[in-house]
Amino acid sequence: MLEIETERLLLRRATMDDLAAFHAILSNPQATVFWSTPPHSDIEQSREWLQSMVDILPGEGEDFVVEHQGSAIGKVGFFRFPEIGFIFHPRTWGFGFAEEALRPVLKRAFQVHGLEAVEADVDPKNAASLRLLAKLGFIEIGRRERTWLIGDQWCDSVDLRLLRG
Ligand SMILES: CC(C)(COP(=O)(O)OP(=O)(O)OC[C@H]1O[C@@H](n2cnc3c(N)ncnc32)[C@H](O)[C@@H]1OP(=O)(O)O)[C@@H](O)C(=O)NCCC(=O)NCCS
Repeated sequence: MLEIETERLLLRRATMDDLAAFHAILSNPQATVFWSTPPHSDIEQSREWLQSMVDILPGEGEDFVVEHQGSAIGKVGFFRFPEIGFIFHPRTWGFGFAEEALRPVLKRAFQVHGLEAVEADVDPKNAASLRLLAKLGFIEIGRRERTWLIGDQWCDSVDLRLLRG
């Protein structure tokens, strides 16, 4: 079972036992304000989402549950290579956990999976994610308008890329 330990965190594969923790995140309006779906109102939506994370095939992607002090606080990784994704419970924001979790996952993407580049698609209003990705070395490569229809709201995208090395 693949696990990555950092100073404060454990990164591991998802199981369906993570459902309650992820429903708490995916039903949270603050956590999902820039997410690709509105907050989950039904735990079945979170179950389907988590099942698709559990079912990721090797070579297709690699997503990690992030644990802090024995509790699942978020996820980082690739639902599908080469696009990075991450979400944490708002009670854990601002402690550097996202950066700490992403660093080894990005290193692994280049060194183990041999990616030439990692990509990210971020809402221009998502200041926390833009700051986080800039700190990790991502560079903006373009902007697109009306890329995501979330509920009844059109959202735009900033495209970012981190090259190997
Ligand atoms: C983006 C997210 C993962 C950041 O998590 P986090 O653990 O708070 O991030 P970190 O503590 O590692 O912070 C990384 C940097 O971003 C900065 N940052 C955090 N929140 C910020 C905000 N609201 N505005 C501006 N910068 C912010 C931090 O200050 C830090 O930079 P610094 O070291 O120069 O101070 C978290 O806010 C989240 O889960 N958001 C919702 C999900 C989401 O938007 N995912 C991305 C979809 S594309």
